[in-house]
Amino acid sequence: MNEQAIATVKATVPVLRENGVALTSYFYKRMLGNHPELKNVFNLSHQATGRQPRALAAAVLAYAENIEDPSKLLKAVDRIAIKHVSLDIHPDQYAIVGTNLLHSISEVLELPMDHDVITAWEQAYGQLANILINREKALYHEVATKKGGWSGWRAFKISAKQQDGEHTTFTLVPTDGLAITPAQAGAFISVKVAIADQGIEQPQQFSFEQVQDNAEYHIQVKRELVDADVPSVSNALLDHVQVGDTVQVTAPLSYH
Ligand code: HEM
Repeated sequence: MNEQAIATVKATVPVLRENGVALTSYFYKRMLGNHPELKNVFNLSHQATGRQPRALAAAVLAYAENIEDPSKLLKAVDRIAIKHVSLDIHPDQYAIVGTNLLHSISEVLELPMDHDVITAWEQAYGQLANILINREKALYHEVATKKGGWSGWRAFKISAKQQDGEHTTFTLVPTDGLAITPAQAGAFISVKVAIADQGIEQPQQFSFEQVQDNAEYHIQVKRELVDADVPSVSNALLDHVQVGDTVQVTAPLSYH
């Protein structure tokens, strides 16, 4: 990015920050409207609370503020990349997010898409997207090449479902019968289930309470109090997923 573009991006951060709610709600509405397939990717109960919508846009703004010294954000980048890999986010999806984010910035700042400000933001977003895509590529390789490892979603069967007080422990075994990566306590997997009445799938992350060093994983699921129309993976597991059913699982990861 040239100095002019950097200055332009930095100058618009405060006004975008002030309009944060408008920016993020417009952005998500636009993106999920144009790409309903992403309703299977984003956890819609996190969307409902507004926590996640703020996180993505806030990360882009924080990056823009530190654009001259992105090393300040390396730790944050790492955390986002780990989250993305756990959710099987792919490079081609960055273009979708980018287009929708730029249109949202154009809308919030009331500028045409061919304005210098938008062009500068396009470069800034592209730069951050590249950093994340590269980090994620390395992480996908890392999880795939571990013993028993894999990248993306892998089918697991529920082999037991045991209620213990307010938690239900689900035991998951891979349907291919092959080895699975051992994991430390605190590491997490994403589990994706069908939300039948809404015709979508939803992912959610579950952390391991204990070391997982056997041929199966154990996760503890607790009922979530959400409005009836907000899909909850935990509630779907408790109410609709029985022993013998299959769910999709990503390889264990942890924040270092
Ligand atoms: C430069 C681009 C991007 C940035 C800066 C970004 C930033 C973030 C941040 C800060 C989080 C929250 C991390 C946490 O909770 O620790 C997040 C989560 C997430 N991101 Fe991204 N992201 C980007 C691109 C994408 C793309 C391309 C996709 C796929 C369409 C995506 C999908 C997700 C999902 C599904 C989550 C988890 C949200 C949830 O809680 O359900 N992100 N991202």
